[in-house]
Amino acid sequence: MEKLVVFGKNRLYGDVYISGAKNAALPILAATILSEGSYQISNIPLLNDIKTMSKLLFTLGITHRLEGNVLHLTNNGDDKLIEVPYDLVKTMRASILLLGPILAKKGEARVSLPGGCAIGERPVDLHISALEKMGATITVEDGYIHAVCKKLKGCVIDFEKVTVTGTENILMAATLAEGRTVLNNAATEPEVEDLANILIKMGATIDGAGTPCIIIDGVASLKSVDYEVMPDRIECGTFLAAVTATGGKIKVHNAPISSMTAILNALEEAGLELDIEDDNTLTATSSGYVKSVDIETSVYPGFPTDMQAQFMAAMLKADGVSTVSENIFENRFMHVAEYKRMGADINVEGDTATVKGVKHFTGAQIMASDLRASAGLVIAGLIADSESDISRIYHLDRGYETFEKKLSNLGADIKRVKSEDQ
Ligand code: UD1
Repeated sequence: MEKLVVFGKNRLYGDVYISGAKNAALPILAATILSEGSYQISNIPLLNDIKTMSKLLFTLGITHRLEGNVLHLTNNGDDKLIEVPYDLVKTMRASILLLGPILAKKGEARVSLPGGCAIGERPVDLHISALEKMGATITVEDGYIHAVCKKLKGCVIDFEKVTVTGTENILMAATLAEGRTVLNNAATEPEVEDLANILIKMGATIDGAGTPCIIIDGVASLKSVDYEVMPDRIECGTFLAAVTATGGKIKVHNAPISSMTAILNALEEAGLELDIEDDNTLTATSSGYVKSVDIETSVYPGFPTDMQAQFMAAMLKADGVSTVSENIFENRFMHVAEYKRMGADINVEGDTATVKGVKHFTGAQIMASDLRASAGLVIAGLIADSESDISRIYHLDRGYETFEKKLSNLGADIKRVKSEDQ
């Protein structure tokens, strides 16, 4: 096991490069199931979730080779390999993204059901009912979703709730279905659009990606392509939240600025000054004096739930009282107990946390509960008056590429050390 040791109080200065988006790369890699051939996917973030997805693809007959941030994949077209095993799925819920493409391409899929996770129940009922509506026969047996359908049929799917991976799963499945599929109440997240863009490059007919209504006309086959993954708006937002809280001046490169309006607006309101140079470059300056700001999470283009913990960390020493409402997941305040151990004044009632900014904030031994909460804890550590030890950082490694190295390049006092803790 490893932990992060953080000493607070340093301001952040310098340049930081944002990696490719995890939540775009995962569905894009899943899309390689849809056609035989060779793919070259660039701007791949070097993360544990990407390793897990590569291993899963390998069990499905797709080999891979990583060269820097480029993943070369070869789909050998083995239609008999249809199983996604529990051992890998349990470490990454996004494995459910494989269900749609395996079924559409191979006519049958056996995908382990993801279990519960720290941020809530996270069911996959909407993925299943949409595939059933497209003609699949689905049973759940021995913890596995078993789906069978020779040829999926296009239809109208009205998602009861907006679901990001649900939209992506059905989008991929519909590319090879017979006829037209219409997805209503589809997720509009930029990562869905990035997936649609590679699918279109592969030969799919898709209209409306990025809007709540996506229309897909099924085609007989697709082809393999090369593609560059979009940059990660959550990683970018995390660095900006960090500098807002610590004070300093950072230049951010490879930032997906146009997809970050809600995050940038909230941080500007909190006191961050932004100087946008071009589509992907900005300079952020903060005096370290943070104003309290109320946010509530919602689907895109609203404030993302994946930035909630990090934004709350920036509010811990703010001048005044802020409220943070979580509207997407029912149990996404696990970081609050850890912030309180460091001296934060937070009261949670239902979906809303009320944060009263405090003057003094001390380091503590704290524990990460999920991916984005871990990033929030690091930001809290960066503004504490003394040392913090953050354990269970394997959560962080699922979604941030060399996080502590990027932060120490900006002047943060942070290091990774071996730890006895579990
Ligand atoms: C994706 C992101 C995750 C982000 C989340 C919300 C990936 C790999 N993960 O997760 O980082 O936090 O979007 O922006 O892209 N729901 C159902 N039934 C379903 C599916 C979802 O009730 O079948 C509910 C969920 O419990 C949740 C809400 O819908 O309350 C949104 O979840 P969803 O958008 O599906 O999240 P993920 O796609 O799992």
